[in-house]
Amino acid sequence: MRAFERSGIDFVMLEDSTALTDIYGGTFESELKWTPRAPKHDPMALASRLAYETDRIGIVVTASTSFYPPFLLTRLLSTLDHLSRGRMGWNIVTSTGDRAAQNFGKDTLPTHDARYEIAEEFVDVANKLWASWDADAASPIGPGLESYVDHTKVRTIDHVGEHFSVRGPLNTLPSPQGKPVICQAGASKSGIDLAARVADLVVAAPKGRDAMREYRKTVRARAAEFGRDPDDIKVLYMVTPILGETEEDAARKAERYYKATDGAIARRLIMLSGDIDFSTFDVDQPIPDELQTEGSTSILDNLRKWANGRSIRETVATERTESLRLVGTPAGVADEMESVIDEVGGDGFLFFGGGGGVLNRRYVDDVCDGLMPELARRGVAGTGYRGGNFREHLAGAR
Ligand SMILES: Cc1cc2nc3c(=O)[nH]c(=O)nc-3n(C[C@H](O)[C@H](O)[C@H](O)COP(=O)(O)O)c2cc1C
Repeated sequence: MRAFERSGIDFVMLEDSTALTDIYGGTFESELKWTPRAPKHDPMALASRLAYETDRIGIVVTASTSFYPPFLLTRLLSTLDHLSRGRMGWNIVTSTGDRAAQNFGKDTLPTHDARYEIAEEFVDVANKLWASWDADAASPIGPGLESYVDHTKVRTIDHVGEHFSVRGPLNTLPSPQGKPVICQAGASKSGIDLAARVADLVVAAPKGRDAMREYRKTVRARAAEFGRDPDDIKVLYMVTPILGETEEDAARKAERYYKATDGAIARRLIMLSGDIDFSTFDVDQPIPDELQTEGSTSILDNLRKWANGRSIRETVATERTESLRLVGTPAGVADEMESVIDEVGGDGFLFFGGGGGVLNRRYVDDVCDGLMPELARRGVAGTGYRGGNFREHLAGAR
């Protein structure tokens, strides 16, 4: 984490899930053996520690709108924003798969689109709660003052909606950012709509320059339709750069990384599974036409698009969750990243560990001491933290 901060990386995103699932093959074996998703400790506690260990880097935690009560999550994020002195972000997810629902007293999750409707109301409540104190409601404690909070600047929100009833106000002091930076990674139509309405940051993996350009155009157009300035949403593309001292060295590493071992195929299928048990399919056949999901619809749609008639095995072996395949020396990869942003538009990239075994100490060094200085030299990243908090830094970042 300190290496990320030294290199000027804007933020880290801590992903999360709320279930250990046994969908794939009907046991926990594959999930525990192959995926980075399990075991999984709570990102909120980790964020608190990371905030203590670092000074400037943004910390984005993932929390599901399908399970947290809005008041609890809003209060928790406000508290973390205090502890981090204004560096928190919230990655809004709606969860996929019924196993998560079964940890919270429900048999199944609401449908995909219903989850996004709930998410929208959730964020509405959260925003009201964060606004339930005026920013200047509290003043520094001083001698002779009976109270350091002006109670006339604190009010109830009295929200009564379809999914939530919350009186408010929040019982935390206004945090340094007022509210965390809002991040969203939905790729379906309802996911993009939520992002366009509420997000400061959108993360996605549209494939190739044309799809990246198209994705950004869609997000920005929707944002404008919702009355927002499209420039207020940063669009980041997911990549996993494979770096070497020479082109040959990078190519050797890439060959290992992209190799379709049984473990790699199983991991990809488990991560894509959601509520579908891919272990019951013949992976040497194409994805059955009748297959539907209420988990992540965009993942299944993409899989179909990438397959283009090929077998499941071939598709998952060659297609990763990444916008571009970046393999080369730090200078070569930085050149390509710069040219992509210049040509396609967009605000940057999210380096994705992706569970391919790539995220180890050596990889962190390759990125932080190799790639980031090259990007900084080109003036496109890692050129210092701006502003007094994470949101201000993002507003000034390219
Ligand atoms: C970079 C990234 C990180 C994500 N992190 C999580 C996560 O931590 N937990 C989770 O339940 N879903 C996570 N997702 C899944 C998204 O929230 C979303 O469900 C997915 O991108 C599919 O989009 P859709 O729901 O609009 O179909 C992540 C997606 C991306 C691209």
